[in-house]
Amino acid sequence: MSMLEEHKHKHPTHDFDGITENRTNRPPAYFSVLFYGLILWGTIFSAYYLLSGWSSDAEFAAKMADHQQQVAEQKPSGPQAAAAAPQMSEEELLNEGKELFAQHCAACHGAAGEGGIGPALDGADYAYGADREAVHLSIAKGREGGMPAFGSQLSATQLEALTGFVLSLQPSGSAAAPAPAAGEPAAEEPAAAAAEGPDAAELYAGNCAACHGADGRGGIGPDLGAGEYKFGKDDAAILESIANGRPGGMPAFGARLSEAQLLSLVEFLKSL
Ligand code: HEC
Ligand code: HEC
Repeated sequence: MSMLEEHKHKHPTHDFDGITENRTNRPPAYFSVLFYGLILWGTIFSAYYLLSGWSSDAEFAAKMADHQQQVAEQKPSGPQAAAAAPQMSEEELLNEGKELFAQHCAACHGAAGEGGIGPALDGADYAYGADREAVHLSIAKGREGGMPAFGSQLSATQLEALTGFVLSLQPSGSAAAPAPAAGEPAAEEPAAAAAEGPDAAELYAGNCAACHGADGRGGIGPDLGAGEYKFGKDDAAILESIANGRPGGMPAFGARLSEAQLLSLVEFLKSL
């Protein structure tokens, strides 16, 4: 041990057990550059993340906010909008339906529902029924002949908006028109009820005009025109008003009129 120590400083090289140590050879320059460079880089790197205020949480939050904004723009009826749906006016709903149609349906059914890969939706003859229920079912569950189901990718409000828009494509008054029997019998059920062909205007004149006025502008009962309805103006609320009545003097028609007749009245009121 002491022999080795003494040796060390006197000779540039030293042999020991066949291994030659050469103390004049320094590590290559690039090694030093890498070594000190790495220390420098490490310091700057740590300083940047420690002192600049950057944090992965903040970055995540920012990206998430961006994403949610995008989603909100694409789907105006997210959960919040859906909750606010009852306040959505019929016109807004129709506009939304129009946009959704352009986005999801026009490729197959044509920009104005005139048909293409999928059948025309602007006529009254729907294979699966042209009433609200059948149309809603066609959209939500799809149809075997190539109509995809949209029930899982669209919200309830969006489906409702689309249904309303598709109905608006039909020649007016045909919302509850009879559908030629072509689809499976089960789907024809509502259409069959509609086959009696309730003429909404006639129904209105016979059952409602006495109280709401011949033109729907009000009388004993409130104005049913373009303005807001006290009990809500979405389809469900109007149907509820007509079928079950309202406490302030609106009689219930649920037992007197068929479902198709009630639905055609809902459509009729919206056209007032
Ligand atoms: C990939 C093409 C395609 C897309 C996209 C598509 N449809 Fe269809 N749709 C069809 C086809 C094909 C049929 C006919 C199905 C059948 O006869 O069984 C159909 C049938 C229908 C029907 C029933 C028509 C009837 O005669 O009863 C309705 C309503 C409908 N589509 C609405 C829509 C709406 C609303 C959208 C958008 C949300 C949409 N479709 C998107 C291809 C499409
Ligand atoms: C005997 C008179 C009378 C008849 C007949 C009548 N209504 Fe009414 N209706 C009223 C009154 C009164 C109200 C207000 C109820 C309230 O404020 O609680 C009303 C309310 C309504 C509403 C709710 C309006 C709102 O602001 O939310 C609708 C929709 C409606 N009627 C539709 C009809 C239809 C459709 C018919 C025919 C099938 C009809 N009514 C027949 C008296 C009548």
